[in-house]
Amino acid sequence: MMRCVALIPAAGTGSRVGDECPKQYLTLLGKPMLAYSIEVLINHPRIATVFVVVAPEDSWFERFNWSEFGSELQVVRVGGATRSKSVTRGLKAMGDAVSPDDWVLVHDAARPCLSNTLLDRLIAGIGEDDVGGLLACRIADTIKSADTHHRVIETRSRHGLWGAQTPQMFRRGLLERALSAVDSEEITDDASAVEQLGYQPLLIESEVENLKVTYAGDLRLAQTILESRRDNQ
Ligand code: CTP
Ligand code: MG
Repeated sequence: MMRCVALIPAAGTGSRVGDECPKQYLTLLGKPMLAYSIEVLINHPRIATVFVVVAPEDSWFERFNWSEFGSELQVVRVGGATRSKSVTRGLKAMGDAVSPDDWVLVHDAARPCLSNTLLDRLIAGIGEDDVGGLLACRIADTIKSADTHHRVIETRSRHGLWGAQTPQMFRRGLLERALSAVDSEEITDDASAVEQLGYQPLLIESEVENLKVTYAGDLRLAQTILESRRDNQ
């Protein structure tokens, strides 16, 4: 079995949430959002190291105490202008510690509700697949496209449509090759870079609870999910 490491891009500004504090550092039940992703990944027995990519000018990370995670947490201050640049630079910063055949699980800092169950399902589901893959949910809503005035243009078929989540799990070598070949402005996840090389990543069925905090209202939802888990423990 190849080794697994995790890479958390956390170099965004959270402009759509609209807080001065980047969303990955906003407090959820007394902890910064980023801590939840680190915790679930670091506690998984297959994951050796969790790399967190922050922006070079980030002044928030050091305001919190991360010592509970020990040396399995590695912070690299190499974030770029886009998510995929942050991921690309994070992969490079891993240096010789991670081999080209090792698995990298790229996970958004903005998805604090990833559960151990879903993480297990992803790692087991990908196994030693030739390509790799990602957590995703079948689209349940009816899909409309609209003009700029919010007037419906048409209803699209949702047949075969899935919403991509993270973690996205690929071998380091393939991921580096894929990301170096794409325009980083054009892609919003890692799998689409791999797809552009002609591969077909495997979708592992996920749950909506692994939501991405994008707008301010999503914070409340994330908090409710984390609260219900705490109460059930
Ligand atoms: N991210 C990153 N580097 C960037 C942009 C985004 O590492 N230049 C990270 C974010 O920190 C987040 C993940 O990629 O964990 C998903 O991106 P997104 O939800 O778009 O976060 P932001 O870019 O911070 O938010 P917004 O687009 O609203 O500004
Ligand atoms: Mg963004």
